[in-house]
Amino acid sequence: NVLILDFGSQYTQLIARRVRELNIYSEIKPYNKVPEDLSQFKAVILSGSPHSVRSEEPPHPDLSNIKGEKPLLGICYGAQYLAHFNGGNVAPSATREYGRANLTTIQGNDAFLENISEGSQVWMSHSDTIKQLPENAVLLASTDDVENAVYRFKGENTYGIQFHPEVYHTKEGTRLLENFLVNIAGLEQDWTPDAFVETTVRELQGEIGDDKVILGLSGGVDSSVAAILLNKAIGNRLHCIFVNNGLLRKNEFETVLEQYKGMGLNVKGVDASARFLEALAGESEPEKKRKIIGRVFIDVFDDEAHQVENAKWLAQGTIYPDRIESVSASGGPSATIKSHHNVGGLPDYMKLKIVEPLKLLFKDEVRRVGASMGMPTGILGRHPFPGPGLGIRILGDITAEKVSILQEVDAIFIEGLKKWGLYDKVWQAGAMLLPVNSVGVMGDERTYEKCVALRAVESTDGMTADWVNLPYEFLQKVSNDIINKVKGVNRVVYDISSKPPATIEWE
Ligand code: XMP
Repeated sequence: NVLILDFGSQYTQLIARRVRELNIYSEIKPYNKVPEDLSQFKAVILSGSPHSVRSEEPPHPDLSNIKGEKPLLGICYGAQYLAHFNGGNVAPSATREYGRANLTTIQGNDAFLENISEGSQVWMSHSDTIKQLPENAVLLASTDDVENAVYRFKGENTYGIQFHPEVYHTKEGTRLLENFLVNIAGLEQDWTPDAFVETTVRELQGEIGDDKVILGLSGGVDSSVAAILLNKAIGNRLHCIFVNNGLLRKNEFETVLEQYKGMGLNVKGVDASARFLEALAGESEPEKKRKIIGRVFIDVFDDEAHQVENAKWLAQGTIYPDRIESVSASGGPSATIKSHHNVGGLPDYMKLKIVEPLKLLFKDEVRRVGASMGMPTGILGRHPFPGPGLGIRILGDITAEKVSILQEVDAIFIEGLKKWGLYDKVWQAGAMLLPVNSVGVMGDERTYEKCVALRAVESTDGMTADWVNLPYEFLQKVSNDIINKVKGVNRVVYDISSKPPATIEWE
């Protein structure tokens, strides 16, 4: 296990991912919360930071139990930190050093730089530089502009590197991390999906004992993988609830319910469409719609959960990025752009203990774990779909008729993407029903009907996104199909806005 101390760098999560790609488990902790018990960690990495060691109050945790005791690697700020607080000298660099550089001189034959080529491309992002190394440190490599690019403390496995091995543009970054973690720290590369499933199942059995667990399935990847893991651990004592809020995709409720049953899950499908539509009637304000959908979901889930006698636990599909305690550079809370609703917000009075079997995994790891348990790619490869579903893709008020129009449009679009081999190239796609009518002509008749917008984006986490350059021939075909087949729609447009400043969903 590797401990990554986060000093607030935008790349900290990437360090964890690179380490895990080496099949070594890693955990991120804020720099000011160094765990008291360090026995489980065989190596420690210090991240970069927006801060400077020269600032008035630089982040300065006590590392005396770590430095010299365990293999330690400081990256960027981490390297400056180790230099500055051990007698070296850090100063502003004459030029700001960002982007590409090459390791021009590699000195000696330290295990850390084994198989790293002379001239290897690395990626810099810093404005301070280490002018002078501490006395008991030796220089290992430089670039043209940065003399002290890689160094080591004599007689201990403590290293500092000024560049970022975790970013893609540092070509041999993963090899550097491997040299440090495997050759120097002696970590085993045994963090595989199979091993994760085995240990997690065992831990879940220990934690839950003979209790019953309730889990809300959404049709998405995370809750599905969580359910299969729990099912492996406790079988039918896992009670899954899958709510139809009437705002799912066409046939989604039936199809997904069948898939879940096919995977052996103990799942109850609850069709609450009418209850949702009734509560939403006449409401067109986006935040109010979201709140209503969230509230009705909790009511329905709560009713169902109470029918499972003696349930002690609520399982959730929370994943690692949802939980990382981040060190924010600016401090303050961020503004609420949209109030998300997920199964998370259950009322306290339910008094259930929470179990989160995926809380340590990144999204792609969730997929790998699912695949290693034999889950169908149909579920694992799904695009994300928002909890409030089509409710936030029908702009304005929601009626059963609008839902059914949008379901048809969406189905043609999504099926088309699949048929044209585009589905897996797109991160998320869907259609919006706009609250405008426009004039058209069909045959010799004037029409005055609805307009739909198609949206397809690429993204890695939904935080930023760009629209996808779908082939014109594809858009042409899909637009034709929609207008010809879906009654009530006479116009199709394609959304070419990036996030920011737009968002992915229109509401
Ligand atoms: P926005 O529209 O904020 O969406 O750019 C970013 C990502 O989040 C999804 N989304 C939601 N997911 N509950 C969810 O589970 C919600 O209330 C919700 N709202 C937006 C959206 O589909 C996109 O993937």
